[in-house]
Amino acid sequence: MAGRIPQTFIDELLNRVDIVDVIDARVPLKKAGREFSACCPFHNEKTPSFTVSQAKQFYHCFGCGAHGSAIGFLMDYEHMEFPEAVEELARAAGLEVPREAGAARQDQQRLDNHFTLLERAERFYRNQLREHPQASKAIEYLKNRGLSGEVAKQFALGYAPPGWDNLLRHLGSDAQAQKLALELGLLIRRDDGGLYDRFRDRIMFPIRDRRGRTIAFGGRVLGDEKPKYMNSPESAVFHKGEQLYGLFEARKVNQKLERLLVVEGYMDVVALAQFGMNNAVATLGTATTPEHLERLYRTVKEVVFCFDGDNAGRRAAWRALENALPALRDGREARFLFLPEGEDPDSLIRKIGFEDFLRNTVESIPLSQFFYEHLTRQVDISTREGRAHLVEMARPLLEKLPDSVFRDLMLDRLTEISGVNEEKLRKRIQGPETTPPPAQQAAPATGRSPLVRTAIRLLLEQPGLAQECPDTARFRDLRLAGVPLLCELIDILKDSPHLSTAGLLDRMRGRSESSHLAKLAAQPMEIADNYGEEFSGAIQRLIEQRNYQRSSELIAKGYDNLTETEKTEWSQLLGPRHPVTD
Ligand code: UTP
Ligand code: MN
Repeated sequence: MAGRIPQTFIDELLNRVDIVDVIDARVPLKKAGREFSACCPFHNEKTPSFTVSQAKQFYHCFGCGAHGSAIGFLMDYEHMEFPEAVEELARAAGLEVPREAGAARQDQQRLDNHFTLLERAERFYRNQLREHPQASKAIEYLKNRGLSGEVAKQFALGYAPPGWDNLLRHLGSDAQAQKLALELGLLIRRDDGGLYDRFRDRIMFPIRDRRGRTIAFGGRVLGDEKPKYMNSPESAVFHKGEQLYGLFEARKVNQKLERLLVVEGYMDVVALAQFGMNNAVATLGTATTPEHLERLYRTVKEVVFCFDGDNAGRRAAWRALENALPALRDGREARFLFLPEGEDPDSLIRKIGFEDFLRNTVESIPLSQFFYEHLTRQVDISTREGRAHLVEMARPLLEKLPDSVFRDLMLDRLTEISGVNEEKLRKRIQGPETTPPPAQQAAPATGRSPLVRTAIRLLLEQPGLAQECPDTARFRDLRLAGVPLLCELIDILKDSPHLSTAGLLDRMRGRSESSHLAKLAAQPMEIADNYGEEFSGAIQRLIEQRNYQRSSELIAKGYDNLTETEKTEWSQLLGPRHPVTD
């Protein structure tokens, strides 16, 4: 939520700290040759496959694929958000985290003011639940829904009394507070300029961020009025697509959560907690986004998605699955719990109780099963066409999975179901473009360019090489797998010449290519010197290939059909051999 941290500071920070110290303080490392190693803290193993490179300032686990810079390590190991991890490292290095530009300080002030006002509103609603003359009907409502005072307190539930100006009057004539409340959507401006309360006669659910600060509210009517729930609008401090209702509360009860349950509603989260299931979170009336997934897997290894068993529920589950795939490196698990017709987690746990509900979550369907059930339902796998179609549908999805044992298992399963021979399948379904072939094995004949891979590996080994590289515009449009990524890496390094390998990988955080890049970077290089020559040779050949590709295009068009610019290009590319034009 704080103002943006300048990228230059992050680069500098990664150059200043030593990842070996950062990790060793938490997971004792042993020196092993040029690198350091340990048993991986991110998955269970008996022999160490977790390595830390001091030279490249990053870590990589050959077992589960976990990888990253010192910042990434703190995020994963300490379950920190990015800014927290940066703060922590900076503190250890004795640096102060700067704010971007002068305006940022004001932004920070403004955010702090927002938080303060939200806290005031939250306290107001909480007090109204105890003190307002009509609070008894709200308390009655909560009791009827089976909620205790304790759980109401745990979630800081409140009551917005009936009437148009309760909060407004509470804030008084303070113009600054009114302005903030308006920006936060707690107050609404009427056409005649007057202000009124957004939330009226509703049970109030404060939505809190990971640190426990109230950032927004949801409000439920006591009866059958519409809309049933009303939510704060997006604001400077509230971004719906990132927030998970109940995450703060769940972590407060248990710092070492193993599993989180994703449900749909506020009431589901609260009711589950009432019954002792303190690990449910809800998305706020939106689909599960990649940002949600990031946040979930930074907190736990296992996520169980709870959806209605009807068609709409299955569609929502499938969308969650699609977003979960890129996050599923080894050690992370996604499962699906489809609820019986007409039930939500709230009603179900009331009916069957904690024990049975817990068993249902433990016995929920693994992602792999839901994946193939969903796809095979759409084709007739008794026919050749159906099986071919299945492979085509599965392909883009499986390509989203990081390179992992899990991915191999998913491919094995596809082989079983489709009957397509495994080797063929592997040729058709590739990892992201830079997947290296297994060590010492020749490059597969499937169009992945060893040239591009070599160039990328060299860059990861020695980021400084990018400085001598010709303008990437000279080969950017070469149609060869991996070229766009290579160009992007070179451009980043030209912009930030002091970036280390870890810094470079850090820029790729969250991208599907990132685990493959980390793997490439972790592999020792065979050649020891002349990296520079090797690199410029590779680039030179890419430029030649691009020129050849372009000449062929121009020739195919025919000289007479070319524009003036293209004719100039022609003469540059095809040299003095001018065509006869008459
Ligand atoms: P549901 O309609 O399933 O309600 O909405 P619920 O959670 O079962 O609530 P109760 O049990 O009737 O109290 C699920 C979620 O969708 C969003 C809310 O986040 C809600 O928790 N929603 C629903 C809205 O934002 N607005 C609405 O009018 C309805
Ligand atoms: Mn409900």
